[in-house]
Amino acid sequence: MSPSETPRRVDRSDGMDRRVFCASALATGMAVACGGGGGGTPAPAPAPPAPSPGLLTTTDTKAALLALPDGTTRDYRNQGNVFLIKDATGIYAMTTVCTHMGCTVGVPVGTQITCPCHGSQYTLGGGNTLGPATQPLVHFAVTEATPGGFLVVNTAQTVAASARLT
Ligand code: FES
Repeated sequence: MSPSETPRRVDRSDGMDRRVFCASALATGMAVACGGGGGGTPAPAPAPPAPSPGLLTTTDTKAALLALPDGTTRDYRNQGNVFLIKDATGIYAMTTVCTHMGCTVGVPVGTQITCPCHGSQYTLGGGNTLGPATQPLVHFAVTEATPGGFLVVNTAQTVAASARLT
């Protein structure tokens, strides 16, 4: 290692180095990120961001989705935390954010949706069937961008769970 590569000690501007700062902070009960960690149970995975209010334009059209079997689910979790689902009465859009602590639920298996974080379960219509969640999944307004065009989900506009686009 050349002299120019010698590690430098970086001091705080107030003259207190990191080790002293952390020890001082711990002594005063201050919450700081000084590393070390310690044991304990690892924290659960961070929750995904809630759907940002606004419009999500999908790549599905009403005519195409209505032609598919009941229970068909389009997965837009990565685009806006939304499922677009076709059932016997039409099309609806529903959040994929678990009502317990905000984890993203899994894709439906049959007619059941399960949250991977703590096991809450929902029906395909979003009804809560098993805790720890106690509330149903929220439904959003879904419309056509233009007549016959792609479906647009408005995550800023909640609707009744019975609402359908037909
Ligand atoms: S966040 Fe879904 S069950 Fe806890």
